[in-house]
Amino acid sequence: MAKMVLVSLASASTSSRVAAAIVVVLGLVLSLVVVCNGGKTSSFVRKVEKSEVMPLDSDVFKVPPGYNAPQQVHITQGDQLGKAVIVSWVTVDEPGSNTVVYWSAKGIKEMAVGEVTTYKFYNYTSGYIHHTIISNLNFDTKYHYVVGIDHTKRQFWFITPPEVGPDVPYTFGLIGDLGQTYDSNATLTHYELNPQKGQAVLFVGDLSYADLHPNHDNVRWDTWGRFTERSVAYQPWIWTAGNHDIDFAPEIGEIEPFKPYTHRYPVPHNASGSTSPLWYSIKRASAYIIVLSSYSAYGKYTPQNRWIEEELPKVNRSETPWLIVLMHSPFYNSYTKHYMEGETMRVMYEPSFVKYKVDVVFTGHVHAYERSHRISNVAYNIVNGNCIPVKDQSAPVYITIGDGGNSEGLATNMTEPRPAYSSFREASFGHATFGIKNQTHAYYGWHRNQDGYPVTADSMWFLNRYYNPDDESTSAQHY
Ligand SMILES: [Fe+2]
Repeated sequence: MAKMVLVSLASASTSSRVAAAIVVVLGLVLSLVVVCNGGKTSSFVRKVEKSEVMPLDSDVFKVPPGYNAPQQVHITQGDQLGKAVIVSWVTVDEPGSNTVVYWSAKGIKEMAVGEVTTYKFYNYTSGYIHHTIISNLNFDTKYHYVVGIDHTKRQFWFITPPEVGPDVPYTFGLIGDLGQTYDSNATLTHYELNPQKGQAVLFVGDLSYADLHPNHDNVRWDTWGRFTERSVAYQPWIWTAGNHDIDFAPEIGEIEPFKPYTHRYPVPHNASGSTSPLWYSIKRASAYIIVLSSYSAYGKYTPQNRWIEEELPKVNRSETPWLIVLMHSPFYNSYTKHYMEGETMRVMYEPSFVKYKVDVVFTGHVHAYERSHRISNVAYNIVNGNCIPVKDQSAPVYITIGDGGNSEGLATNMTEPRPAYSSFREASFGHATFGIKNQTHAYYGWHRNQDGYPVTADSMWFLNRYYNPDDESTSAQHY
């Protein structure tokens, strides 16, 4: 466009040259305005001190009273459609019962019996970890459930999702890298009190940060289970594995990656044909959610790669219009912390994400917040030099939401200048919600912990990539 203006200037009379010059200046000013609107680094500067881990005697870690009382109760989706729930809990005195008693307002009391497991980690022995699947539930129904026996029964409830379908509203919460600090507690409280009312949490990895304690003190997996129970006993959290969930510690003889994580947090990977709990998919309401593992082999011919190559073509957008991918390490991250760690996986998987029009990719790992424009970087082939990400309306929005509040503190250092692909970035703790309204529209909002519960510090109306692949970036708002 600039070239065309210069050509017209050369052939113009003096007066028209002046007019044309004004046009050029105006054009430059306008283009600068466009560039400035293209993205933003928030002016908020947060404290850089590490966040303080809540002490073991904190009320959020309280052990429920009574002999062998179930603790660390948590639920997750138990099948591919949302008609099953996995209920998990821990007893410490003896194995006790594996039974869950459950009922809806209209139904009679039913029972499901599961199994119990334990594991050892260096000098730690776990409690009795129970996993029971409740199946054949009705959609969109509130169920009460009880775990434990005799005097130590504990009762909770959950609501099953609506039947999978193209026009079904549903709101997901988004939390990552939570840990168990005072900031973690603030994040969870903000999520619970957010009037957007998340109905299930998409958790993008790094749960307890037990590995930062001496010998990966697994007591900190237990305290994290008790801390989060107040949410995850009542609504499913969909789990993604992060690097702090690997617990690989050969120096103390612990060489089985993800041992505490996989013993404690089962997922319905078999239902989606996955051979590993570290990658799987579920359908929930109008969303198809694919969970990937940044810390498992993902190259050509690996189990995870074979699975995703078969998985993406299966997604039927007429049934589930919204295609969401979760993993831990971001493809696009403009903070200096963990810079380019997701690059090798991006090279492998980004072409498929664009081809199958993934709506949004949520990641954690970087302890800050960032939302990208719709961009892709798939043209580069080593020799052609096309290595700059370009706007691409078939590409996902990449959102880093690793700002749950763990003890490592915020990632405050950013690469400068801000890359053009980054729409908004800010180093503050918080969480987000993704509210699907229908098959074409979803309202996304990021909530920072310093604000009131209803405030969205960054928001955008998502247009579905399959049904309405227009540029929706002008709807983005942040402050
Ligand atoms: Fe991480």
